[in-house]
This record gives sequence, structure tokens and C-alpha cells, in this order.
Amino acid sequence: MPNMGMGVETEAFSEVEDEEEELGNRITCVCGCLLLTFTMGAVHLFLVTVSLIAISTAAHNITDILSGFPEYSLFNSYLTQTRLADEINTRTTITVLALDNAAMSALVGKHPLSVIKNALALHVVLDYYDGQKLHQISKGTTLSTTLYQTTGHAPGNLGFVNITDLRGGKVGFGSAAPGSTLDSTYTKSVKQIPYNISVIQISAPIIAPGVLTAPAPSASDANITALLEKAGCKTFASLLVSTGVIKVYQTAADKGLTLFAPNDEAFKAPGVPDLSKLTNAEMVSLLQFHALTSYTPFGTLKTTKDAINTLASNGAGKFDLTVTTAGDEVTLHSGVDSSRVAETVLDSTPLCIFTVDNVLLPPELFGKSPSPAPAPEPVTSPSPAPAVTSPSPAPESAKAPAPILSPPAPPMSSPDGAPAEGPTAESENSTSDNSSSSVQAPALFKAIIITVSVMVTVSFLLS
Ligand SMILES: *[C@@H]1O[C@H](CO)[C@@H](O)[C@H](O)[C@H]1NC(C)=O
Ligand SMILES: *[C@@H]1O[C@H](CO)[C@@H](O)[C@H](O)[C@H]1NC(C)=O
Ligand SMILES: *[C@@H]1O[C@H](CO)[C@@H](O)[C@H](O)[C@H]1NC(C)=O
Ligand SMILES: *[C@@H]1O[C@H](CO)[C@@H](O)[C@H](O)[C@H]1NC(C)=O
Ligand SMILES: *[C@@H]1O[C@H](CO)[C@@H](O)[C@H](O)[C@H]1NC(C)=O
Repeated sequence: MPNMGMGVETEAFSEVEDEEEELGNRITCVCGCLLLTFTMGAVHLFLVTVSLIAISTAAHNITDILSGFPEYSLFNSYLTQTRLADEINTRTTITVLALDNAAMSALVGKHPLSVIKNALALHVVLDYYDGQKLHQISKGTTLSTTLYQTTGHAPGNLGFVNITDLRGGKVGFGSAAPGSTLDSTYTKSVKQIPYNISVIQISAPIIAPGVLTAPAPSASDANITALLEKAGCKTFASLLVSTGVIKVYQTAADKGLTLFAPNDEAFKAPGVPDLSKLTNAEMVSLLQFHALTSYTPFGTLKTTKDAINTLASNGAGKFDLTVTTAGDEVTLHSGVDSSRVAETVLDSTPLCIFTVDNVLLPPELFGKSPSPAPAPEPVTSPSPAPAVTSPSPAPESAKAPAPILSPPAPPMSSPDGAPAEGPTAESENSTSDNSSSSVQAPALFKAIIITVSVMVTVSFLLS
């Protein structure tokens, strides 16, 4: 990526600069090459703008859209079961390649949900294609990024689909993997909300090599302890083992389990109460507070509005977590403290493991307000604060965007063939300088004004 840190520098922007850089990395996958055509000065602004639009105001609901078409009921049902529907609803400028019940039954018959999820994620293209644009693909063929690419499970270009304008007015779809054939064709348009979401039907599933034959990682086989240790959560893992909670997790993993594992730095952070003072039962509750008894991948967390029960919940409103979303960042609130969801360690239906930056402290154990624990007062520290006590140099795991959020850039180098071209009506002769920004001009400019005012407001609140 080019350096995004130059260009527009206002007070409002400088305050959120770090966040912008992260957003910048992430949004690249949403908008792909569309953004590469912006001028450098504009990129800074647009990255922020587009990312906020993409996440905060998507207004469509794929489940509702498809519910009007009984021929896609199986496809619709699997979008819900795999939670891909949530991911679709948080994104804009996407195309869903729907399969009818006959095509779906061939796909779902003999595969576990985790495999079906990967297969279906390849049917969500991160670009807007309606019938007209499909027939206007520059040079007649393109590789387009899909949701599968964003999972981090897709090696090489397995996460891309090849869309090719074939002779005789047909449009072919296939895996972008070398040697793949275009086995599927455009059938018809189902529903368009320009340029937010387009749903079109294709004739057959697009199957990337190896996706269906990959050994389905069984949740009961996953060694949660080993995964946590590898992800930098050794303290959490050892507490799970010493208390026996790991057995509870391992049993729950088959039916649906989501873990929020604090990394090792989180346990050393100033302000964490002395956990050795907890009784055994309290420690068990604390550990179970870091788990949900359902498969809740990142896209689902982003759409969560109500308080969620944890494994420790034992009554109405007890040991609940609440979730807030800002842009592409999800924050969990315990009632005492809060923590960013940092990294996705595993997302394999029905088991999800995330790392979090802080130990989540339930009010049931630690009181309603932050306990008078030793605060990280720089004043009281006579020597220059060592790295350990300073939260700012975030650990590698916390700093890196989750793999699901940050797929590699598309393999294509030519801007002409880039997946994200202007929508339908865009003429081929537009200059690269401003063609992309002009396509969505009315919507974008309106949104920029809204977004900038929101950001200014936020910056005032923060300051
Ligand atoms: C399309 O998405 C934008 C946000 O990106 C939203 O404001 C707008 O209402 C959506 N349009 C429709 C027709 O849903
Ligand atoms: C898409 O697939 C067709 C047929 O295999 C191939 O000729 C074409 O080059 C591919 N398109 C891209 C952009 O790789
Ligand atoms: C899981 O991994 C841990 C640590 O890597 C190891 O000690 C343990 O034996 C493993 N458990 C199983 C069932 O393989
Ligand atoms: C682009 O091409 C269209 C016809 O396809 C023409 O009307 C228009 O003037 C051209 N624009 C530029 C900037 O060359
Ligand atoms: C690109 O922008 C310049 C200046 O804003 C404008 O004069 C020109 O017509 C634009 N070109 C196209 C193709 O929109």
C-alpha cells in the first residue's frame, strides 16, 4: 500500500490518525482497487469516509431480500446458519451470487457447515455488479475479490472469482485459481439497491479447488489450549487448564462457542485487580465470562445490539456483555471495563476464538465502578516508564488487524482489470484521476459531509 499518512491533515484527522491507518488497511479490502485511482490527497479523506459508510449505515437485509423468493430458500437459510448474512448486512458495494434450491442441494448435501461457509463466502463479491455492468467488464474478464478472501483461509487467489463476458451474451463465473473453468453462468437479476447490494442468480456453485475437500476442522478436535498459546494467550490458557474450565469449553465447542481470550499483556496491565485473591468459583466465573455459548463470528458481533449472555451468565442480566461498533472495530463492555476485539485466532463454524486487549471484569465480581486498583499514573513512576507498563506500544497481536479484516490485495496489477470498477453507467474513457470518485459522487459527497461532521463531533468529545 502507498503511504496513506500524507495529504489532508486537519485537527479532527490528526487525533484519529492511528485509527485511520488501521481503517485504511482494512478498507482496502472493501473497496479494492477503486481507491487506488484516487489522487493521494483524496485518499486520506476517502478511506475514512468510505469505511465509516461501509460499516455504519448499510441499510439492507439479505435475509429479508431473499425471503421474497422461495427458490432461494435453501441459500437464504445457509446464509443465516453460517452467519454470512450478518457479514453481508454490514457491507456495501457487494454482489451476492445466489443459487437456487437445486444448485444449493448439490452443494450442501454432504458437507459440514464450516465447509459450506467457505464455499458460500466465495459467492459474495466485494463489488457491485448488476446485469448491465456484467456485460461491460473492461477487456471482457476480471477477477473480483470475495468474502472468502477476507477470511484469511484462502491461499493464493482462491478467494477471487473470475467473471468473464462470454460470447453470445453469456457471462461466466469460476474460481480465479489457475486452470479453473467457468462452470457457472449468469442466470438473472434478483434484486438491486444501487450501489449498495446487488443480488443476481448464477447457474451453479463456484467451487475453488480444495474448498470442498479440505478436512473439515472439527471443533472437538481443535486443541483450544494450543491455539491460545500460539496466539499469545498463555496466561489465559494456563488458567483454563488449572481451573478445569478448558473441559467446559472443549465440550461446549461442538454446539457453538466463542472465546474472547485476553492476551498475556492484558493480565500484566496496570489496573487489573489481583486475581490471586479470587476464590476458585470466582475464577471459574471470570474465565467463563470470556466465552459465549454460540458461534458468533466477527460480522455477527458487529451487528449485535442487545446484551449477550456469557457462559458465566446464571440469571437475567447477570454476567452479560454489551457490544459497540465503531467503523470496523468492535468493543466489548463488561460493565466495569471494556476491550477491543483484537484478532481472530479461529473462525471455524461452530467455534470462534478472538483475542482481546483487556481482561473483561464483570461487575458481579469487581463492583460497578473500576476498583481502586493502582492506576497507571505516570507521575508516580520516577523512572521512564518501561515498555511493560505502557499500554501504547501495543503487542504485535493487538496491533495487527484481524486476518478476516485484512486480506491481501487482489493479484491483478493492471488498473483496467481491477475488480472494483465504476458502476454500470461509467464510460470507458474516464480519466483515471477522477473516474472512480465521480461514479458515486452524489452519495459519496453527501456522506462525506455527514462523516466529517460526525468526526469533528467525535474529536470534540474525545478532547
Ligand atoms: C445505501 O447505503 C447507504 C450507506 O452506505 C445508505 O445511507 C443508503 O440508505 C442505502 N441505500 C438504500 C437504498 O438502502
Ligand atoms: C478467466 O478465465 C478465463 C477462462 O479460463 C481466462 O481465459 C481468463 O484469462 C480469466 N480471466 C482473468 C482476469 O484471469
Ligand atoms: C493440546 O495442546 C497442549 C499444549 O500445546 C498440550 O499440552 C496438550 O496435550 C494438547 N492436548 C491434546 C488433547 O492434544
Ligand atoms: C466519453 O465517451 C462518451 C461516449 O462514449 C462521450 O460522449 C464523452 O464526451 C467522452 N468523454 C470524454 C471525457 O472524453
Ligand atoms: C476530472 O476532474 C477535472 C477537474 O475536477 C474535470 O475538469 C474533468 O472533466 C474530470 N474528468 C472526468 C472524466 O470526469
